[in-house]
Amino acid sequence: MLGEQKVSYSGVQPSGNLTIGNYLGAIRNFKQYSEQYKTFYCVVDEHAITVRQVPAELRRRTYETLALYMACGLDPEKNTLYVQSMVHEHAELAWILNCFTMFGELSRMTQFKDKSAKHADNINAGLFTYPTLMAADILLYQTDVVPVGIDQKQHVELCRDIAERFNQIYPGTFTVPEPVIAKSGMKIMSLADPTKKMSKSDENANAVVYILDDRDTIIRKFKRAVTDSGSEVRYSPDKPGVSNLMSIYSCFTGKSFEEIEHEFEGKGYGDFKLAVGETTADALAAVQSEYNLLLADKAGLEAQMKKGAEEASYYARRTLSKVQKKLGFVQLH
Ligand code: TRP
Repeated sequence: MLGEQKVSYSGVQPSGNLTIGNYLGAIRNFKQYSEQYKTFYCVVDEHAITVRQVPAELRRRTYETLALYMACGLDPEKNTLYVQSMVHEHAELAWILNCFTMFGELSRMTQFKDKSAKHADNINAGLFTYPTLMAADILLYQTDVVPVGIDQKQHVELCRDIAERFNQIYPGTFTVPEPVIAKSGMKIMSLADPTKKMSKSDENANAVVYILDDRDTIIRKFKRAVTDSGSEVRYSPDKPGVSNLMSIYSCFTGKSFEEIEHEFEGKGYGDFKLAVGETTADALAAVQSEYNLLLADKAGLEAQMKKGAEEASYYARRTLSKVQKKLGFVQLH
């Protein structure tokens, strides 16, 4: 809570191109919070460097991610949109929280285990302490809710544990946040292997639909999507491919699975896949044209970054000095 207002906070990494999984599972749902909550959405460039980045690409993607937030409907007048490295309190609070986070807790994080298997030549300490930086992001703003995809739930739960531990020693420091996992679109699966999550870093380009893919590409990828035996459009655990496509179609159209089954009764997978492709392309077209406009105005985005960083810093500074005072760091006035 900040004053009387509840706070919603989330972050997206500027690494890799965002997928419809990121869109449906996270970003699209951010918008609904701005009516009821004070909202902060961050481009987490400091998290991105836990794996090696090409500087020019990281820079470009930072602009792109901010533009994408805005194109997905986040109005910068109603939401604080900013870049993590522009608010130095994140890194400072992360250090402090490292001293309240256990080695064993960090070792149990699934994402750490996955990423260290994938980047075996670069298992750096930042990859290990990634969740304490994420906890700092969240706790700096006295956050109540954290809308994230299901894969980040474990990190938010660790953040809760850290906040509770800190509050136990230094009462009344942090609001303890709750993860909020979107019901619809919470897990969009790969089009090539529907038992695996759709991931922006998948090597198989046909497995993933990116928010910025053009219409033909989107339709082609859905045409090639792996389906199951039989020919019936039905939502069922023994039809993971079809079920995944139905989830996507349902997210974009608002139709229930029953309605979708009815709509495609007597039609084959071909018709169904074409419909999913066209619907997705239509839905993303509006986001894409807005995105292109925003991205063409670099100075506008920079002005936005500056404004966002100033707004965020105001709150971040307050929490950090409260923490420093509680810890016994000398305060000069
Ligand atoms: N770790 C998140 C991810 O990879 C991104 C993130 C960083 C985040 N800080 C956050 C999400 C704070 C929610 C809240 O997707």
